Amino acid sequence: MEVDKSLISALIEAALSADYTGVRRLGVQIAKGLSEQNDIEGAKALQSLLRRRGVPLQASGYAEALPRDAGSRLPLIEEGQWPTTPVMMGGQAGHTVSQFIEDAQHIDLLTQKGVSARLGLLIYGPPGTGKTLLAGHIAASLKRPFYIARLDSLISSRLGETAKNIREIFDFVPARNAVLFLDEMDAVAKIRDDRHELGELKRVVNTVLQGLDSLTDDVVTIGATNHPHLLDPAIWRRFPYKVELGLPDQDVRTSLWQHFLYQDGDTHRDHALLLSRVSEGLNGADIENIALAARRRAILGNREPSLSQILMAVRGSRAGSPQLLDNRELDTADKKALTQMLDEIGDVSQAEIGEIVGVSRQMVHRYLKEAEHG
Ligand SMILES: Nc1ncnc2c1ncn2[C@@H]1O[C@H](COP(=O)(O)OP(=O)(O)OP(=O)(O)O)[C@@H](O)[C@H]1O
Ligand SMILES: [Mg+2]
Repeated sequence: MEVDKSLISALIEAALSADYTGVRRLGVQIAKGLSEQNDIEGAKALQSLLRRRGVPLQASGYAEALPRDAGSRLPLIEEGQWPTTPVMMGGQAGHTVSQFIEDAQHIDLLTQKGVSARLGLLIYGPPGTGKTLLAGHIAASLKRPFYIARLDSLISSRLGETAKNIREIFDFVPARNAVLFLDEMDAVAKIRDDRHELGELKRVVNTVLQGLDSLTDDVVTIGATNHPHLLDPAIWRRFPYKVELGLPDQDVRTSLWQHFLYQDGDTHRDHALLLSRVSEGLNGADIENIALAARRRAILGNREPSLSQILMAVRGSRAGSPQLLDNRELDTADKKALTQMLDEIGDVSQAEIGEIVGVSRQMVHRYLKEAEHG
């Protein structure tokens, strides 16, 4: 066997200073070197060694408690629940996610054949589109514990503390056969403000890179960000699988309304479809909020959710600031606005509009004439 001697010295140094992240990272590098030299057996033996839980961590009891920030004593990591609600997404995102799950489930075979990829998935897209929810689903599909680390909360104002916090996360997770979810990845890039100098940004990015490199191929890491363009390219490259969760398209919006408003019942498909057409630009969380508000009003008022009230709420909503409905009856101005909004969709007949708005077909005709002239 021929291994770079500098790696061995670095390994011994890391071991003697109890730098577990370092030991794992160097171990991974040495295993890679072995498999490149076609010593598949040696690489495999080393990899299975690296998957074991570190004895000192276990013996000290340290492994049982969640790591905390030294200053604030706030936990650096929390264990998330497996979600119980479904995540709606478009075809492409769905394909990538299934492929990622399949690869993760068969990582041993893939490693044995020398074709494993790092199990890193980056989910990016605007707020409220289901990124955190999706990460939880992946953990649930893999039946692994779901550990959430929010990078923005790891950033400490105390010099050197940030890097230490990040290292603790990467020391904590590998031995647990868990999914490590790094939320708010772009927080790292935001260190570039006046409080910190550029040197610290570099150090923090490097610590994240080293942490990611210390993980063996079987560790599942999911990163999420609203601002993929702010991510350091080296971090971007560490996540071979990428899923964009954009604002929901019409099909996804239909499923969201169907689920959150009509609890996946079959009777209101046409209403869900209509709502999906007027709610372009809203995110999944907005649709959920409006739908739940409508169901609350319906339960307390002991009636069906009111489609016209929901349409008015959608009309007054923008991404990130949904308007929740109230019990107010529609006044004439509301009825006119709603009539116009439904007319603009294109293929809703005047009779249907009248039924939804609660006025006669003649009145719909009149509203539209008035709108045309005024
Ligand atoms: N695509 C979706 N399918 C199902 N539910 C969704 C979807 N998008 C949003 N939701 C609902 O909105 C809630 C908030 O979504 P989530 O926290 O996962 O968004 P996020 O993308 O992580 O947002 P942020 O960028 O603000 O962290 C979810 O728990 C879920 O109830
Ligand atoms: Mg989130």
